[in-house]
Amino acid sequence: MPEEFGKDFWEERYAGHTHVWSGRPNPQLVAEAEDLAPGTALDAGCGEGADAIWLASRGWRVTAVDFATAALRRAREHAESLDADAAGRIDWAQADLTEWAPPEERFDLVSTHYVHLAASREAFFRRMAASVAPGGTLLIVGHHPLDLQTTIQRPPIPELFFTAEDVVAVLDPGRWDVVAADARPRPATDHDGNEVTIHDTVLRARRRP
Ligand SMILES: C[S@@+](CC[C@H](N)C(=O)[O-])C[C@H]1O[C@@H](n2cnc3c(N)ncnc32)[C@H](O)[C@@H]1O
Repeated sequence: MPEEFGKDFWEERYAGHTHVWSGRPNPQLVAEAEDLAPGTALDAGCGEGADAIWLASRGWRVTAVDFATAALRRAREHAESLDADAAGRIDWAQADLTEWAPPEERFDLVSTHYVHLAASREAFFRRMAASVAPGGTLLIVGHHPLDLQTTIQRPPIPELFFTAEDVVAVLDPGRWDVVAADARPRPATDHDGNEVTIHDTVLRARRRP
């Protein structure tokens, strides 16, 4: 990963703001996980925890991982202030996703949103896929490379961006059914207040039982 987006960058970003993110679950998570029966979930790169909290409030037992101490502290506090029952279903864990290997075939849902690794990305995808239980769902969402051509603020570093096809390429076609592999448009507002269309990379796949 480029040095400027390592742990120090994220610790500083979280330390400097009351809330970096909206506190709402990501739209692609809601769209893709709403129809799933609750089970065990991994949220990799959980940030301030909105996705983990949303899943836990729907009955999921969640492991939420990030390397930023400040994010995890804020996420835990937010969960406890919102819903004690849901908070009790979330295990917050600190780990570096460039090397951390979750248990294999462990989770009914593995979800990761907007974690942008460069050199270590493919290995990260493989570890995330390996931790999905048979019959479970892999959901990998990121900023699509198309966003580099918009006025939305994105780091001008093409190697940080990936497509759904990049994720599909690491999945064994004998073991996975791809449910969605999209450059999914959604409206956003850039720093000058202009309405623009941005795109999320969305990969949803089901591991065969
Ligand atoms: C763009 S934020 C997204 C946060 C959350 N998934 C969301 O959508 O609101 C990326 C998150 O990934 C975390 N992250 C980035 N690289 C990481 C790494 N190597 N190990 C663990 N967490 C990482 C950052 O600390 C940050 O919280």
